[in-house]
Amino acid sequence: MLDAAPPVTPQPESERPNLGTRLMRRKPVEQLVAEGGQGDGGSLRRSLTMWQLTMISIGATLGTGIFVVLGEATPLAGPAVAISFVIAGLTALFSALSYAELAGSIPVSGSSYSYSYATMGEVIAWICGWCLVLEYGVSVAAVAVGWGEYLNELLDGTIGVTIPASVSAPLGEGGFINLPALIVILLAMVFLMGGAKESARVNTIMVVIKIATLVLFCVIGFMGIKAGNYAPLAPLGVTGISAAAATLFFSYIGFDAASTAGEEAKNPKKDLPRAIMLSLLIVTVLYCLVALVAVGAMPWQDFEGTEAALAQIMKDVTGHSFWGVVLAAGAVVAIASVVFAVLYGQTRILFAMSRDGLVPKVFAKVDERTGTPKANVVIVSLFCGVLAAFIPLGELANATSIGTLFAFALVNVAVVILRYKRPDMPRTFRVALFPVTPILGFAFCAYMMFSLPSKTWVYFGGWMIAGLVIYFFYGMRRSSLATAEK
Ligand code: ALA
Repeated sequence: MLDAAPPVTPQPESERPNLGTRLMRRKPVEQLVAEGGQGDGGSLRRSLTMWQLTMISIGATLGTGIFVVLGEATPLAGPAVAISFVIAGLTALFSALSYAELAGSIPVSGSSYSYSYATMGEVIAWICGWCLVLEYGVSVAAVAVGWGEYLNELLDGTIGVTIPASVSAPLGEGGFINLPALIVILLAMVFLMGGAKESARVNTIMVVIKIATLVLFCVIGFMGIKAGNYAPLAPLGVTGISAAAATLFFSYIGFDAASTAGEEAKNPKKDLPRAIMLSLLIVTVLYCLVALVAVGAMPWQDFEGTEAALAQIMKDVTGHSFWGVVLAAGAVVAIASVVFAVLYGQTRILFAMSRDGLVPKVFAKVDERTGTPKANVVIVSLFCGVLAAFIPLGELANATSIGTLFAFALVNVAVVILRYKRPDMPRTFRVALFPVTPILGFAFCAYMMFSLPSKTWVYFGGWMIAGLVIYFFYGMRRSSLATAEK
């Protein structure tokens, strides 16, 4: 028989902190940093160099956006889609500067979630972490779905076979299960269980392949440019350019992924800011070049309804389907690498949240042999795998951008708060032109959020309500700061 539970003596109501105090409790920066790397049963291993961190960020960024979403955004803006890339890139740049400052001073694995915890309090940190689940967990499922499409293109071009819709699309989209999406997530899971160093090696190889594919596209596409395709530059005006920029923002999501590796970096204070800025620079230059070449080589109206537009351009310019297959192969690797790096980021964010008691402890359990949060990797992969395999994600994928923009906006606020509250704290990177830069960063994020369709806002509202319900019933009572108060 079970023993009767000992009687609990509740703390007198008058001695408990009131609701406002509980929601606003902050985790001191020093405590966040001191706990860095520590998990349940072991610590994460510090093995990542500046280049590997840069590769993690590029790995998480360069993929579906440039290979798929460019084709959807071009009909919105016309040839000026290259300008849309610059606008979306500026939004990312201002926020990247803020990320760089905070990652250099609070080099832990929770990214913007941890920065919010140190500056704005627990409930905002939770909301931020919940938005990061949209940025990472939900987007990984959406990206995996895009992978299946390119895999089919590749199979068709090489062996003339395509995977039947019944097993390559979820219910409601003409099939029962999206097996390719599930498979790519499970593959990523297997690699991620191997340890940060091994994962970084796999990631670097994939990143080199995808950069090479896009450079090859630029070289071949350049030969097909016709000056007439650039005129008129902006047939759909400023509105079109803005709408395309908001859609293309998706392609920049992920540059912050290095900030989820703070506890596995060899020299995080110096290397994280550099990795974030360098990856954004490389990605922006590549995006603008690819966009300029693409709209120069194919009339912008032809992008409407053309699947795999970049592959089509390669075929048209060379006159050989072989080059289309090469591009599809590059895209398969590129998108797989986004799945891999984004999944990595999600596991590390949940690791930090679990250590703080806001999600169950299992997410912070470290495997002694590999030094990785193995159980966390398995749970997150299965969750994302099921989402990708069975749920039509089209609409939810849009919500990814809005959630990310919200998290970025919070990072810009966090920089300002920390500068005023802790002016003397050592900082390896400082945002230039403070406070103008983070204010602009915040304004750009807000502008982008309001450029997204109203339907996206409805989904986002639902997501936030669900998050708050979970916080009030779970995190608020179980967080390590709450336990310490008891
Ligand atoms: N930025 C990532 C991609 O484009 C999400 O695939």
